[in-house]
Amino acid sequence: MTTTESTETTPTTTETPGQTTSLPESTWNHHHLLDLDDCSRTEIETVLTLADRMREILDRRIPRVPALRGFTVVNLFYEPSTRTRASFELAGKVLGADVISVNSSTSSIQKGESLIDTVRTMRAMRTDAIVIRHAMAGAPYLAAEHTDASIINAGDGAHAHPTQALLDLYTMRRHVGDLSGKKVVMVGDIAHSRVARSDLWGLAAMGAKVVVCGPPTLLPLGLRAQDRPGHAESALPPVSIETNIDVALEGADVVIALRLQSERQEAGLLPSLHEYAANYQVTAERLVRAKPDHLLMHPGPKNEGIEIAGDVASGDRSIIEEQVTNGVAVRMALLYLLSGRVDPSEVVAEART
Ligand code: NCD
Repeated sequence: MTTTESTETTPTTTETPGQTTSLPESTWNHHHLLDLDDCSRTEIETVLTLADRMREILDRRIPRVPALRGFTVVNLFYEPSTRTRASFELAGKVLGADVISVNSSTSSIQKGESLIDTVRTMRAMRTDAIVIRHAMAGAPYLAAEHTDASIINAGDGAHAHPTQALLDLYTMRRHVGDLSGKKVVMVGDIAHSRVARSDLWGLAAMGAKVVVCGPPTLLPLGLRAQDRPGHAESALPPVSIETNIDVALEGADVVIALRLQSERQEAGLLPSLHEYAANYQVTAERLVRAKPDHLLMHPGPKNEGIEIAGDVASGDRSIIEEQVTNGVAVRMALLYLLSGRVDPSEVVAEART
């Protein structure tokens, strides 16, 4: 850490189950976090390792340190959010940053101000990082072209949600350690899910075997190599596709249930919610096919009784609430890395000792 003010309040290394001890050379080469498709395994490991230290701070009796004092974060959410926005707010506050949330329904956005103008206005107030959620895929990329503040994508349309993917990876790693070769099954509306896309990039980087499962109308075309001739390498990472949930769940280490993104679906993709639930709901009977010690995850918000049964959502294999706690730790790690106040190679060096 380069500029933290006191060693007493500085995040320290902790032993956590699943912590990788022999990390490759660390780098963190991002000023923005727009997606995980351009993050290496080493960079992801750096965030996850730093998140271990942040988790330790969060678990203290008084979870406050001044590591980001004088650093300003603005939350710019053009779409509804509960956990992601609160999580970024808390992450900044735990580290002593100033965090402001701008509500699109009561701001000048209602008066027709463009995203670019809003982002420039925020930067004119000396904002260091801007967290953006927007219904249009690509909006945070546009913002990043027009400001030197760090832009963090908190969900853009059906495209990407990289901090959800990082917290998912972190939560899995705490339980299963190295994700190489682990079978991760995502069930639900893959086509409209930005979480699924970012999870795919992250899981691919970590070497997991991913299966996506849902009705054919909710599986994106670009997933299959034959659907993208000519630029097969530039679409999503390799993944197995399975429309039968019972087959998909066989031997799963991790199961991620995903909400039907009705706000992004055209009409007619599903015969009925009842039929969807009958064929694709993650239930205790179906989870018998997964490994006995499988982990059950969901990014939230859940619709119990549709994509996931209530009893398994709060059952003993569910780590859904832990995902929420870890989300704060991961976002703390990310804000700290983007602030430039920590040396990423030191993070890894400390993890090795
Ligand atoms: C997700 C999102 O907004 O993409 N929620 C979240 O950030 N935890 C998933 C969803 O809305 O279904």
